[in-house]
Order: sequence, then C-alpha cells, then structure tokens
Amino acid sequence: MVYDEENILLMTPGPVPFHPRVYRAMSRTVFHHRTPEYRKTFTECVSMMKEVMQTRNDVFIFTGSGTSAMDAAIANCVSPDDKVLNILGGKFGERWAEITETFGAKSIPLDIEWGKAVKPEMVSDVLRKEPDIKFVTICHNETSTAVLNPVQEIAKITSKHGKIFIVDGITSVGGDYVYPDKWGIDILVTGSQKCLGCPPGLGMIMVGPRAWDIINKRKRIPSYYVNLRAYKKAFEKSSETPNTPAISLIYGLHEALTMILEEGYENRVRRHRLMADAVRKGMEALDLQILAEKGYESNTITALKYPEGIDDSAFRKGMQKHGTLVAGGQNHHKGKIFRVAHMNIIAEREILLLLAVAGLVLREIGFECESGAGVSAAQEVFLKNLK
Ligand SMILES: Cc1ncc(COP(=O)(O)O)c(C=O)c1O
Repeated sequence: MVYDEENILLMTPGPVPFHPRVYRAMSRTVFHHRTPEYRKTFTECVSMMKEVMQTRNDVFIFTGSGTSAMDAAIANCVSPDDKVLNILGGKFGERWAEITETFGAKSIPLDIEWGKAVKPEMVSDVLRKEPDIKFVTICHNETSTAVLNPVQEIAKITSKHGKIFIVDGITSVGGDYVYPDKWGIDILVTGSQKCLGCPPGLGMIMVGPRAWDIINKRKRIPSYYVNLRAYKKAFEKSSETPNTPAISLIYGLHEALTMILEEGYENRVRRHRLMADAVRKGMEALDLQILAEKGYESNTITALKYPEGIDDSAFRKGMQKHGTLVAGGQNHHKGKIFRVAHMNIIAEREILLLLAVAGLVLREIGFECESGAGVSAAQEVFLKNLK
C-alpha cells in the first residue's frame, strides 16, 4: 500500500502535519529537567509562547492536551457558587459548560445554532438580565463548525460589564489573529497539536492580572495537578514546572515556536488566511457549500456540507484511499458535513492536492461536478495574491 499511516496527508484539525525539524528536535536524548540546561530551553519556550500568544501576561505549559488548560482555567478561577455564561454553538463551546458544571458552578448557557457565530448583542442581553454572572467563556475558532467567533467584539462587552473573559484559542493561536492584552481576554488557552505545529500532549494557558486577583483570593484550588499557584511558584522560584515535564515535547515545541517566529506572526496569519480563502473558493467551485455563516468563516479549518445523496463514509474513505485524511462532522453533524483543517505547515501544495483529490473522489462516488474546478479556483486565489 502506498498510503499508510506514515505516508498520508493529515488535513484533520489536530494532529496536523508537523515539520521534520520538530520530529528531529523531539528525537534528541532526554536530559534531566532540574538543570540549568533544561531551564534555559524551557524559559525560551515560555517567552516564545508569550510572543506567539501576543501577551505580556503569565503563560504556563501543562503536560496534557488542550483540554487540560481548559480544565485549569475553570478549576483555578471558578468557585462552586459562581455563575458562568457559557457561549455554546459547537462541541468546544459546549465543553466549557461541561467543565463549569464539573466544578459545581452554575452554567448559564447561551445557545447558538451550530454553524452560526455569536453576536455581541446576544451577550449584552444576557449580561443585562443576569448581572451576577462573573465569568464568560467562548470558543474563538469553533472547530466543530469552522466558525470564527467575534471575540474582539465580545471582549468589549465583557470588559464593559466587568466580567472575566475566558477564551479557547486552541485552533486559533498560531494561525489567526488573537490579541489577548489588546482585546481584553483574561484567560486564553491553547494546545500544541494544532496551529502551533508540535505533536499532541501540551496545553498552554495565559493568565491575566484580573484572573490572578481571583485565583490568589481563593481559599482552596480544587486541583493538584493543574494548580496555577503551584505553577507560578515553581516558575518564579527556578524557571521550572512543579512536576516532571514532557521533556521531548518541550524540545519539539521549542523548535516549532522557533519556526513560527522565523516565519513571523503577521506572515503566518496571512498565509493561513490565504490558504483558507483558496480552500473555500476551491470547494465552492466543486459545488460544495460552506457550513459557516458568511463573514464568520474560520481561517484554520473549513466545514463543508455534503450534497444530497453523498455518503460521508464513502467520501472520506475515498479521500483516505488517495492519501488524504479529512475529518467528519461531530454530534448531530455526523454524516452531514466533513471538515478540512489548514493549519501549521499546510500551504499551496497541500491545498491543491486536497482539491484535486476531492474532485476525483466526488466523481468516483457519483457526484456530478467539474472535478478540476477546485484546483483552478485555488490557483486563481494564489495567482491573485502574487499581484
Ligand atoms: C477548539 C477546540 N477546543 C478544544 C479542543 C480539545 O483539545 P484537546 O483534544 O487537545 O484536549 C479542541 C480539539 O479539537 C478544539 O479544536
């Protein structure tokens, strides 16, 4: 078989393709972590992470996937009697509500139809009606629907009402604009295996001063492992983590962040936006419809609706047979949509391949479309960008 697990194009929303430089960095011999040598690597990682997160606030790195950082956000800040406005609209917006309830706080859900973005006035309405809400959570780039929520606009409202704003940037940080300090985000979380380009297993959290005020005043933090007070103490004392870190992943992250900064923040975001534009135009040229509400399309992932009669499993198996892995829909979107991620080192070559293979597979499974039209449309996007 030509295309196997080691030789396939991952266009899934994490893990994504990782650069060989990152794998090489991870393959080096593991050194002990309570040493000046490791501390240097780790401290550099934290400062590069701050640069990529566009923040001067504290940033901590957990051993754990992105959800570990989400867990930390709620465990450290939210007390059992607190009211939290959880903006839903997809699987990951909903995850905040699940974690909120896990820690015994009162979740006030703001339901949004999957595929639509939250609008600022919806948030103001709830905050006016429920003035004792203390926290607002949101998923910036909702991976289950490929919707980019207007976090900058929502931050204006949460700031005006004096709420603590907690944002999941797991599929936006490193791929699209996120400015926590400028916008007024108190807690921002992300994960290694998406736009940051490092294999799965690290969760990052940015903690701003207003969140620290709350964390510092709490009598007890109901977590031993993701306890931010312990993380801050260990870092301030000796630039370390309280427990053994995932040393090989830190080596990988160091290389991945170095590559991001070599490319440059602005260039990287512009590249991700260009790739997203090419995917959208290419897929539309294949007669597929984008799920996300117009004007709120994600720049790191695209969700496409299946046309009538196209079977999800036949399509995705066909894609895989030709060496390209894409993701299906989640929850009630299962079988109705598929999702392609364009994160990290996905660029022109991969987008053109994706669209060529998608055109071929659609025809193979009986959908009448102009099979090369996706490639042509994407080429036009790239050519226009040269001008
Ligand atoms: C937006 C978003 N939030 C949270 C998560 C959960 O992250 P993890 O699977 O790394 O725990 C994901 C994973 O796909 C995601 O895309």
